[in-house]
Amino acid sequence: MSKPIVVVGSYNVGLFIKGQRLPVKGETVIGDSFYEGAGGKGSNQALCTAKMGGNVHFIGCVGGDRYGRDACDLYDSMGISREFLSVDETIHSGISFVIIDSNGDNLISVALGANNRLSPQHVDKARTLIEGAAMLACQLEGPLDTFAHALKMAHGLGVTTFLDPAPACPLSEEVYRNTDIIAPNESEAEILTGISVDTYADAAKAGRVFLSRGVRTAIVKLGGRGSMYVTENEERHFPAVKVEAVDATGAGDAFAGGLLVALAEEKPIDEAIRFASCVAALSVTKVGVVNALPSREEAESLMARTLQSS
Ligand code: RIB
Repeated sequence: MSKPIVVVGSYNVGLFIKGQRLPVKGETVIGDSFYEGAGGKGSNQALCTAKMGGNVHFIGCVGGDRYGRDACDLYDSMGISREFLSVDETIHSGISFVIIDSNGDNLISVALGANNRLSPQHVDKARTLIEGAAMLACQLEGPLDTFAHALKMAHGLGVTTFLDPAPACPLSEEVYRNTDIIAPNESEAEILTGISVDTYADAAKAGRVFLSRGVRTAIVKLGGRGSMYVTENEERHFPAVKVEAVDATGAGDAFAGGLLVALAEEKPIDEAIRFASCVAALSVTKVGVVNALPSREEAESLMARTLQSS
């Protein structure tokens, strides 16, 4: 079995309403359909990694409610170990309300609940696992000190660290220094760097800011325009794979899952980004997050088709 990929992060049940358009402030709009499913950036990334064949371990916290029990059942059905999943009976599981319009764009509001109880001690319990891992991934849906602690531990142990800085919030110099790969989307890059990411040149400039703070690699995700890869010696644009978008929720998590697996398999970075782009593209063609994840075969076959046509 390949080396473990450790994901430290959130679980949120997703309550989705898909309609024609998003409401504006103070407005009620009538949607067309409702759907409930698993979500949360950390859990989405872990589940995508598992679906792509990665040896994934999830460090997270759910509440002692129906949503938390559903999460446990889901991990069992996907063969993901619950050794480092805490269940806190005193609080509700993370909950996200997701509103989607006819273009697949969304608005999301999250009540973090049990995710806020994820502590550095939870990470410490997994130290031996982290020591032997290929990669450790964090996002920011929970206590920042826990994610900072996980990145520091993994970096200190020589494990490649990945940070999806979502939702964006100010980060310490130490967090940047302990991050090998950062993968913000356009709005997160703007919040974190102050650079409005409109063009590819803006994305590269924002990537350089992350590098100046100590990150080794920046991948600025540009939605339907692909992603900008920036290292000290290279700046490269990767186009998005064109698909009909139905729901963009979780596309960044699917990208992360694809990237983590490909890098853990020691694929070259350009192949890893292309693979991640295919996983993300397929994930937006259905409503929901986990049920919208493609199989490894589907992602590989899309990658083969895009390579042939390029
Ligand atoms: O990245 C998408 C996720 O963000 C959703 O699943 C929702 O739970 C929010 O956490």
